[in-house]
Amino acid sequence: MNALTGKKILLGVTGGIAAYKAAELVRQLRGAGAEVRVIMTRAATEFVTPLTFQSLSGHPVHLDLLDAAEESAMGHIHLARWAEVVLIAPASADVMARLRAGLADDLLTTVCLAATAPLVLAPAMNQAMWLNLATQDNVAVLKARGVCLLGPAEGVQACGETGPGRLLEPAAIVAALASRSGAGSLAGLRILISAGPTREAIDPVRYLSNRSSGKMGYALAQSAVMQGATVVLVSGPTALVPPSGVEVAQVQSAADMYEAVLARAGHADIYIGAAAVADYAPETAPHKIKKDASSLTLNLVKTPDILAAVAALTASRPFTVGFAAETQSLETSAQGKLLGKSLDMVAANQVGAGVGFEVDDNALYVCWPGGETRLPTAPKSKLATQLLTLIADRYHAQHPVKNS
Ligand SMILES: Cc1cc2nc3c(=O)[nH]c(=O)nc-3n(C[C@H](O)[C@H](O)[C@H](O)COP(=O)(O)O)c2cc1C
Repeated sequence: MNALTGKKILLGVTGGIAAYKAAELVRQLRGAGAEVRVIMTRAATEFVTPLTFQSLSGHPVHLDLLDAAEESAMGHIHLARWAEVVLIAPASADVMARLRAGLADDLLTTVCLAATAPLVLAPAMNQAMWLNLATQDNVAVLKARGVCLLGPAEGVQACGETGPGRLLEPAAIVAALASRSGAGSLAGLRILISAGPTREAIDPVRYLSNRSSGKMGYALAQSAVMQGATVVLVSGPTALVPPSGVEVAQVQSAADMYEAVLARAGHADIYIGAAAVADYAPETAPHKIKKDASSLTLNLVKTPDILAAVAALTASRPFTVGFAAETQSLETSAQGKLLGKSLDMVAANQVGAGVGFEVDDNALYVCWPGGETRLPTAPKSKLATQLLTLIADRYHAQHPVKNS
C-alpha cells in the first residue's frame, strides 16, 4: 500500500514565484493517493488563480478567514481538524515570520494555530531573504517547536541569483511526506537496492559493460519510498535522474559495488539485487593498450558474487531478493538461483533484442521457497510496485512481530 493513500493533506500556498510549482505538487500528491484541500494567501492569488488549484484538487480553494459563507461550511476550525498534515509549499519568508510570532491574521495562519496535525514547510525565496538572520532565526524557532522543514534547495533562482532558496521539486516533497508518514506496506523498513550495469576497466580509457539501463532498480527505489521505506540505492553508471527521497551511492565496477553493498547490507531489512553485475572482469592494463598487435586476448577473472555474499551473511542478514536476466530457460534458471544462493525471492526476466534491457516495459517470473507467480508485461514502474507488494507480503510473513 502507498504511504499517502487516503492521507488528508491541507496545502497552504503563499505568495512567491514558486506558487506555480504547487499546482504540480497537488497533481503528484493526488497521484500518490492523498486527499488535498488548498488554502491560498491573498498574495498567492496574485501569482496563480484559485481556479487552477480548484481544478487540480477537485475542491473549492479556501481563501478568506472572515467569510460568512466559508465559516458556515468548512470553517477554519473544521479545516484544522480535517488535516492529517498541514504542508505549506511554497512557504514565504513572510508566512514563516507570522507563524513564528503566532499570528492569526489570515485563514492559513489561523488554521496553523488551530491544527494539531504536523506542520511541514517547504520554503522558497531569494537567497538573501533566506540567509537573512531574521529568516534564519524564525526557521530555528519553528524547527525547535517541531515544525518540519523540507529544503530549500540550492541553485539558480527566478531573480537570476544563485544560492539556497529554491523550492524542493514536487516529487521530492511528495517522497519526503511518504517516508515520514509512518504508513505504507514498507513503513519503517530499510531497503537496500543495487541497480544498473557495472564497468570493468580494460585500461584507463576502455571498459567492458552491459546493456542494463538501471530503470528497473530505480523504479523499485522510487516505489519503495512511496510505500514508506527508507531507501539506499547503490547504482552503477546510468543516465537516470536519482529517484527523489533516496540516498544514492554511485559506483563503477563489480568490486566497487560489492564493497558498497556489503558495507550497507547489515543495516538493511531487505536487499534487492537488481544490478546487472559483470560476472568477469579483465585485469586492468596500467596504460592505454596500443593497437600494434593484430589480435588481442583479454584474460577475464571472476568477480565477487554480491547476492550470494549478502545471502550468506550470518549476523543481520537482510531478506534477500535476486534478479535473474535470462535469454533461455527462464523459470528453471530462476529456481536454480533461488536454491543455489539460498535467496528469499528471485525475480526473473527475459532479456534479448528489445526485451528486458533499455526498455520501459518488462514482465517478471517471481519465485520464492514454496511459491511462484507471473507479473505480465507492464511499465517497469507498475511492475516495481507489484514486486514490492510481493516482497512486503513475504517479508512480513517471515517477521510477524515487525508486521504488527
Ligand atoms: C514578484 C514577486 C515575487 C516574490 N517572490 C517571493 C518569494 O519567492 N518568496 C517570498 O518569501 N516572498 C516573495 N515575494 C514577497 C511576498 O509576496 C510578500 O512577502 C507577501 O507579503 C507574502 O505574503 P504571504 O506570505 O501572505 O503569501 C515576492 C513578491 C513579488 C512582488
